[in-house]
Amino acid sequence: MSEQEVLYDKSTGVATITINRPAKYNALNTSVVTTLRELFKEAENDDSIRVVILTGTGDKAFAAGADITEFQGRNSKSVRPLAENGQELCKYIEAMSKPVIAAVNGFALGGGCEIAMACDIRHASSNAKFGQPEIDLGIIPGFGGTVRLPRLVGLGMAKELVYSGNQVKADEALRIGLVNKIYDSVEELHKGTLELAKKLALKPGVAMKLAKQSMNNTWATPVADNLEFEVDVFCKTFDTEDKDEGVEAFLTKRKPEFKHR
Ligand code: COA
Repeated sequence: MSEQEVLYDKSTGVATITINRPAKYNALNTSVVTTLRELFKEAENDDSIRVVILTGTGDKAFAAGADITEFQGRNSKSVRPLAENGQELCKYIEAMSKPVIAAVNGFALGGGCEIAMACDIRHASSNAKFGQPEIDLGIIPGFGGTVRLPRLVGLGMAKELVYSGNQVKADEALRIGLVNKIYDSVEELHKGTLELAKKLALKPGVAMKLAKQSMNNTWATPVADNLEFEVDVFCKTFDTEDKDEGVEAFLTKRKPEFKHR
């Protein structure tokens, strides 16, 4: 990486991981996703760390999704490593023994929303916007969105969001259970999530880990099966003309015209 695209900071029991591509709305390219995995692993293996916060640099975006420039020219085969990399990151966050708080400081779209959903707790600034806009690129969520969104907000709401690509503002996200708390500003968000993290860092680590495991177990359907299915059909969308059209339209800043094939 030319400059640090992900930052790692430690303070009294809390690791803060910050996606640092503000000029690209913290879009998740391969190196960012890979580095995130490495840094979450570092936090997991560091006994002095009890809680992790995930956020993005700036006041525009937590992460505006997977980096769409990496979608161009890919088909179902060549896109698979991208989706699997994202899914592995989300599964790692979800399964790690320490609580992870997403501090959502702006857009959390596509992969950004999906990574936030893999975290244990989501807090947001009032300017945050959530959504799964993949449909407008001719594709579907591929970092676990079709699996985790229904579990968080219910099947009906999740379908509306995934089918429409609509964004929901912070207050609506709070209402539907996508976030736990909203702050008036990004500064307040960072202050509030650090306070919560420091509080959780003082709780007993073994009990915390077991509580997390036990609550994750309440998901009745085998998540692994659902995720495998999603990655297969996500990849399939990359063999459609509509995906080429959607991606090309975004990158050239025009409206897509889908042919439904
Ligand atoms: N991948 C790659 N680049 C992205 C990106 C993404 N997911 N999201 C934003 N960017 C880039 C833009 O291309 C732009 O770069 P440029 O200045 O070099 O042209 C920069 O970030 C700012 O985005 P811009 O679209 O100019 O800002 P905006 O305020 O008008 O709109 C969004 C913000 C987030 C609504 C819009 O960028 C967007 O729709 N992004 C894509 C969201 C998406 O579909 N995510 C799912 C991907 S699977």
